[in-house]
Amino acid sequence: MERTFVAIKPDGIQRGLVGEVISRLERRGLKLVAIRLMIVDEGLARRHYAEHVERPFFPSLVDFITSGPIVAMIWESDNAVALARQTIGATNPAEATPGTIRADLGIDTGRNIVHGSDSPESAEREIGLFFEPGHALDYVRSNDPWLRES
Ligand code: RTP
Ligand code: MG
Repeated sequence: MERTFVAIKPDGIQRGLVGEVISRLERRGLKLVAIRLMIVDEGLARRHYAEHVERPFFPSLVDFITSGPIVAMIWESDNAVALARQTIGATNPAEATPGTIRADLGIDTGRNIVHGSDSPESAEREIGLFFEPGHALDYVRSNDPWLRES
């Protein structure tokens, strides 16, 4: 089992897409193990997006992610990182594959609704930024045998 960090960005909250995003990940088969509605302060935003610090879009990215509440989540499944990224779609919604969250719900890279960790290492780092140790729940989901053969 793998865990990934997914966040619904401020545009997703303001546009009323929280249920839609969660529903798509649930229907795909990923399991929600932690969720938190929160405001990201500048320090956390800069740490979360540290890999982009030299990019020209970094200041606007920090402004955007701190501009309103986000929903921070941990999702679990086999290959959770790759499956969530696939369900989320390419960074630029205009180039994302139809059927993905970004393609179906967005049009602009700077308002692409959802964040998803890009590797298991990033997931571990990001989960550590947004959640206290032990916050994620370990529980049995009754439909698991209908989702996974073993
Ligand atoms: P994310 O981290 O949000 O899941 O998105 P991602 O992996 O698909 O894309 P990444 O390269 O990590 O970029 C992080 C966020 O920065 C904004 N961005 N703007 N103007 C631009 O060229 C540009 N490139 C990236 C997007 O909001 C992207 O999600
Ligand atoms: Mg990224």
